Amino acid sequence: MKQDLIIAIDGHSSTGKSSLSKLIAKQLGYTHIDSGAMYRAVTLFAYQNDLIEGNKVLVEQLVPRLEEIFIDFRYNTANNLNETYLNGVNVEDEIRGLQVSSMVSPIAVIPEVRDYCVALQQKMGENKRIVMDGRDIGTTVFPNADIKIFITASAEIRAKRRFLEFEREGKTISFDEVLKNVIERDHIDSTREYSPLRKAEDAIEVDNSNLNLEQTVEAVMKIISSKK
Ligand code: CDP
Ligand code: CDP
Repeated sequence: MKQDLIIAIDGHSSTGKSSLSKLIAKQLGYTHIDSGAMYRAVTLFAYQNDLIEGNKVLVEQLVPRLEEIFIDFRYNTANNLNETYLNGVNVEDEIRGLQVSSMVSPIAVIPEVRDYCVALQQKMGENKRIVMDGRDIGTTVFPNADIKIFITASAEIRAKRRFLEFEREGKTISFDEVLKNVIERDHIDSTREYSPLRKAEDAIEVDNSNLNLEQTVEAVMKIISSKK
């Protein structure tokens, strides 16, 4: 296979992008970068600094403070995961909760936040050999990515996957709340003006409504191998 690829995996929330990207990166010996974790870390920073009031982001106050945010990923050998650090603190668990999930999309529409995260993502991709998952990787971050995949599945199936994940982690939350969050984020992500979620023209779409994770990995690895 051609070496030193950039593989972009975009799609709707909870389609399994990040689980898939992790497994593909592992098979190829590449680094996985979860771009959504960066928007989540910015959201956590906004909470920590009282820049969110109710469900309103104090955009004018957040923007000048973006320069105070430093995000990096560190590999944890205990669980084989690349974990997210915000200003030197491991926030991997905190950024996955419903509080951050419910405000991350309004934060991600802010053009300055996007510019900040995109610049960081492009820097991390400089040496190639990466699998990056998100919403606009194949369209904006790496429009020349070697392989572009767009993953989708029905909203109900995606909410069910996320709901089961919360249940496994012992978090109490109703299915309806999870479904509402999935639908709301899809809507905000696809309708925002600046760099919306959309399939790149040259991306290959995979609907995994009826595929488990293993079958999705198999389908995507086939696409990657066909680029030999
Ligand atoms: O894992 P999940 O699909 O729930 O979301 P995520 O990948 O962690 O991303 C969280 C949110 O960040 C998304 O709902 C988008 O609003 C935003 N995001 C984005 O705008 N662009 C990206 N490249 C990645 C995430
Ligand atoms: O990154 P994204 O939000 O797209 O999804 P994820 O966090 O990788 O996956 C969300 C949940 O769906 C995880 O618990 C996965 O194990 C599960 N999943 C699944 O049940 N079937 C699939 N085909 C893909 C993911």
